[in-house]
Amino acid sequence: MSRTPFVGGNFKCTGTASSLTSLVKGFNDSITGYPEVEVVIAPGTEYLGLVKAVAHRNIGISAQNCVPKSGAYTGEMSAEQVKDMGLPYVILGHSERRHVFRETDAEIAAKVKAALAQKLCVIFCVGEKLDEREANKTQEVCFHQMKAALTTIAPADWKNIVIAYEPVWAIGTGKVASPEQAQEATALIRSWLSDNINASVASSTRILYGGSVNAKNCADLWARRDIDGFLVGGASTKPEFSEIVKACV
Ligand code: G3P
Repeated sequence: MSRTPFVGGNFKCTGTASSLTSLVKGFNDSITGYPEVEVVIAPGTEYLGLVKAVAHRNIGISAQNCVPKSGAYTGEMSAEQVKDMGLPYVILGHSERRHVFRETDAEIAAKVKAALAQKLCVIFCVGEKLDEREANKTQEVCFHQMKAALTTIAPADWKNIVIAYEPVWAIGTGKVASPEQAQEATALIRSWLSDNINASVASSTRILYGGSVNAKNCADLWARRDIDGFLVGGASTKPEFSEIVKACV
């Protein structure tokens, strides 16, 4: 089955109103000419409205996180509010939420459930730390993270799930996973879907690679069978992001 390429740009906690306005205006010219690629950018919460107003309609806008419910959660944004802002996507389970902000598997599972209930498209992140890879626990870690959040998803909701394999040791380090490593992990993730959900979901779900992707290394990664696109951090806040999108055409 051919899966629509998906390229996400996670701006993380970077940028200003001025820098993001000029960056996105540049993307309006450089990346909107490839409708065959689903392109999504995720600015910080404070800039979601600004970026949504500036971005071309062919560029999807994603929140970087959300909490399950609206209410007394100072500093947070709920799945309902992401929907209310007219944002179609949300990143959940990012390793920085897991390892910096200590979000538990159960908390992330509740977020996934709430986001799907709002009909948001969830970009669900999994990935191992360096010590876990060195201990040959990559499969164990990724499967545990998926089991915690993905086993109770209703069949109709799987169209709103994109999985991003992001080895923690490759994020922000410049140490990109080799195409062999990335293919091995994304194939394992697809096998988990086949064994635990069904063959159709395994075949149709986009699985991305993230972790030090840039214009130079994306082509070799894209060429691998089970890699359907990228979740890009640092390079998504640079003009080279358009080169990564073009590589997936
Ligand atoms: O969500 C994508 C991000 O974690 C990857 O960051 O800077 O290694 O591309 P970076």
